[in-house]
Amino acid sequence: MTQDKLPTSKVERASRFLKTGLKVGGNYVAHYTKSAFTEVDRNDLDRKNAIEILNVLRQLKGSGLKIAQMLSMDNGKKKKKTYAEVFAGAQNNAMALSGPMVLNTFKKYWGKTPYELYDSFNPISILAASIGQVHEAKLSDKKLAVKIQYPGVADSIKSDLNMVKPVVLKVMGLPSAVMNQYMDEIEERLIEETDYELELQQALFVKKELAGFENIIIPNYYPELSNKRILTMDWLEGTMLSDFIKTETDPVKRQIIGQSLLDFLHFQTHTLKKFHADLHPGNFIVTNDLKLGVLDFGCMKSLPPAFYNAYFSLGLDAVINDPLKFREMLMEIDLIREGDSVEEEKLFLETALNAIKIIARPLMQGEFDFSNEAFYQEMLQFGEEIYANKDFRKPNAIRGSKHAIYLHRAFYGLYGLLHQLGVNVKIDRTFFDKLNI
Ligand SMILES: Nc1ncnc2c1ncn2[C@@H]1O[C@H](COP(=O)(O)OP(=O)(O)O)[C@@H](O)[C@H]1O
Ligand SMILES: [Mg+2]
Repeated sequence: MTQDKLPTSKVERASRFLKTGLKVGGNYVAHYTKSAFTEVDRNDLDRKNAIEILNVLRQLKGSGLKIAQMLSMDNGKKKKKTYAEVFAGAQNNAMALSGPMVLNTFKKYWGKTPYELYDSFNPISILAASIGQVHEAKLSDKKLAVKIQYPGVADSIKSDLNMVKPVVLKVMGLPSAVMNQYMDEIEERLIEETDYELELQQALFVKKELAGFENIIIPNYYPELSNKRILTMDWLEGTMLSDFIKTETDPVKRQIIGQSLLDFLHFQTHTLKKFHADLHPGNFIVTNDLKLGVLDFGCMKSLPPAFYNAYFSLGLDAVINDPLKFREMLMEIDLIREGDSVEEEKLFLETALNAIKIIARPLMQGEFDFSNEAFYQEMLQFGEEIYANKDFRKPNAIRGSKHAIYLHRAFYGLYGLLHQLGVNVKIDRTFFDKLNI
């Protein structure tokens, strides 16, 4: 669908939210009236609400779609699975900007048309990005990818978020006061994602640091043809990772790509302590010579040293088996707090221990078969148990360092991709030796 008019005025956006809020509220009323008499499917309610919210998010483009994408990644909990199903549709459903609007964007930021900047430029975008779209261009026979941001996204992101926040919190049933630090973290990353100059810097940084990894390809970027809202890079030829996962039948080839994915995240996490936090299949291309092409460095997360050290030392036997050390590390990452009651401390200690035993298993073993269905089921089951446990719904139980959000998002993405690839990968455990305990 093409639309030239974006809902940019505050009033217009606010009224869309109001309407959605009413519809979502209406769905709840209908649901509870019905459920007073009969057994009804709660998933059905979640689905209806998800569709309403998605419709608004979609019209807001930018931040809204980004949030829809994040919600779609967040499964593992029963209630969210239905949201995830609906929101997953948001990944590829952004509305396209028409040719004239693309030209306007170029004029605004360069004072030139794309035809003056490139030897050729296709005004029709063939690929949607979450807050923009990607065009094909050429410069002396080199095929280029030009990512253009939707106008108004960066400026409206804060006010969009302020409207989206209460809707999301309400639907998810979370109190706003305890959620603020997490919301701020997400807001910070989302705002960073609208800065294509930052994306370019981050891509160049990772490209330089990963130069020694022959199996990983990061395209060349063109600073002189890029600015805050337009990003120019080499076009990466190959198969999108999502298609590779569906169609590649050679297990050896799948294996090579899986190992590259793990090495990619692992090196950034443990050596750079700053990593690409958006590991979904749209951001990877398998090149024809079987290398892992990486795109989209808009969302990167840096881990402060104290958090990094405490978090990963939880995978060491010397920490797990030493109650005092274990407690100290959990305190550092805000899973245990001064002032917790005896029961609270017990609950969080036990839950953390169980979580580590599952999530860190691949790291602890050094080699892991991600095709293992039981492992995946165990993770889902663990998530469901936490979801079902009322003790975790108390405001005081919403805790944990904000730095874990994007770390988990990245590793959750990685584990999912490795599972879909069905591969057995090796994990270099030497980083454990460098931790301070
Ligand atoms: N250099 C490139 N070569 C080939 N395809 C690209 C390139 N850059 C982007 N794409 C395609 O465009 C899509 C959106 O670009 P991306 O940078 O991931 O945007 P977003 O930051 O919004 O997720 C990608 O999923 C990919 O399919
Ligand atoms: Mg992307």
